[in-house]
Amino acid sequence: MTTDLSDRSHLDKLIATFYKRVFADDQIGPFFTQVARVAPEMHVALLGDFWETVLFGKNLYHRNIIQKHADLHGKRPLEPHHFERWLSLFVTTVDELFVGPVAEQAKIRAQSMAMVIQVKTHTLSTTNR
Ligand code: HEM
Repeated sequence: MTTDLSDRSHLDKLIATFYKRVFADDQIGPFFTQVARVAPEMHVALLGDFWETVLFGKNLYHRNIIQKHADLHGKRPLEPHHFERWLSLFVTTVDELFVGPVAEQAKIRAQSMAMVIQVKTHTLSTTNR
């Protein structure tokens, strides 16, 4: 692929491909299918809003992403290897489908969000104990 990520249809393709892999994954799939019991179509639409906000400066996503993952962590612990797996699937999927500065940004933003979620979920769940 020689196209950069540049519009919502690209994001939809990236997210649909990524979450298909995530839902089927032995390590992190169960968080979606057993713990949160997420409907795949809903998740893809919500994540499109999230990434459009992060990458294209749109004002579509207003929810508390940290709290969502802290709640999840309270039900089943999110461990460093889960974040590594999530990121590895994300980077592989971006690299397969897109190339360019925005695709690079997506990987960088994912990595920093993963770091923040990881630190905050552990902090929040310790504070709440
Ligand atoms: C260990 C890695 C991760 C796992 C297992 C995971 C799992 C999940 C699950 C199960 C949900 C649905 C929660 C619910 O509806 O109750 C969710 C929501 C979400 N995740 Fe993650 N996640 C991970 C990392 C990330 C990262 C790194 C990002 C951002 C780059 C991210 C972005 C989101 C967003 C935007 C939502 C929607 C939250 C909302 O309902 O508004 N996740 N995640």
